[in-house]
Amino acid sequence: MNNPVISVQNLVKRYKNADKAAVDDVSFSVEKGEFFAFLGANGAGKTTTISILTTTLSKTSGEVKIAGFDIEKEARKVRERVGIIFQQPSLDPQLSAEQNIRFHACLYGMYGYRPAFKLMPAAYRNRVMELAEIVGIQDVLFKPIKKLSGGMQRKLEIIRSLIHTPDVLFLDEPTQGLDAVSRRSLWEYINETRTRYGTTVFLTTHYIDEAENVDTVCLINKGKISACCSPEELKRDLLRHELIIDADDRTALLNELSALGLPFTVNGRIVVPYEEESPQEIISKIRTKLTVLKIHEPSLEDAYIEFLTKQSKRAVA
Ligand SMILES: Nc1ncnc2c1ncn2[C@@H]1O[C@H](COP(=O)(O)OP(=O)(O)OP(=O)(O)O)[C@@H](O)[C@H]1O
Ligand SMILES: [Mg+2]
Repeated sequence: MNNPVISVQNLVKRYKNADKAAVDDVSFSVEKGEFFAFLGANGAGKTTTISILTTTLSKTSGEVKIAGFDIEKEARKVRERVGIIFQQPSLDPQLSAEQNIRFHACLYGMYGYRPAFKLMPAAYRNRVMELAEIVGIQDVLFKPIKKLSGGMQRKLEIIRSLIHTPDVLFLDEPTQGLDAVSRRSLWEYINETRTRYGTTVFLTTHYIDEAENVDTVCLINKGKISACCSPEELKRDLLRHELIIDADDRTALLNELSALGLPFTVNGRIVVPYEEESPQEIISKIRTKLTVLKIHEPSLEDAYIEFLTKQSKRAVA
């Protein structure tokens, strides 16, 4: 990796009076345009890491650079380059949706404050309208926050965090508390902004399916990274692929599998794991007429659960 947009080396965070570090010697890097996820249970250290990377929390030790800038020595430059959606909603309920964006843009020093949207520079107005259209909240843009649903408020936070065209967008459990439909539509818009602006996205989540489409997933557990790779690699390393088969003449099929020396388990259906051989090679050996034939593609959830099971077995041993 030549020029990572996020570079973290030996990061440690120890909260005052805590016996254990919340982030315990963590190192990783993220390339420009990458879609990167921290996947971990409650208390794993996800928010602590994001808070340090976005300069809202001080680190105990280690080195962190965002877009080449040191988070402590060049904090202001880092802030200009990051957008963040906090785990807790952070909109001002006294203001309209657009006013929330306007205050944010003025705080970032992008524009001088004007008391009405129409008095703001055209560049601001165009950008707000463009982003509102992408996330589909044009109709509520000038309404008070309390008139917006939870999903719309999250979308508004996305617009707000993108207004200064950040290099990296940090999303701390962005879909927490949203229903399935709102989650899906929020993701469509995050993906749309990723492709349109080439923004690097750093996501934390404990919804495993949300990490299925990322480039890199890091499993974080009690402040330590236990694996960091693509979801495909994680599945390949942890899980065997399986063929699910059955036949009207089940006894004949089971006898044949034994005679061929193929490993199998009977779990409702007959499950034949495969690693080196392709499914076609296995099927071509079987002569018994099959009535069921399915290839089980492991999900990231399967891999994650397998990973946690192995971890806890190791801890007990
Ligand atoms: N301000 C604080 N003071 C002391 N300890 C803290 C503080 N904030 C977090 N912690 C502790 O640090 C650890 C990591 O917390 P963190 O909030 O980073 O986890 P998380 O992965 O974001 O969890 P969640 O999924 O619940 O949001 C936890 O043990 C938590 O109790
Ligand atoms: Mg958190």
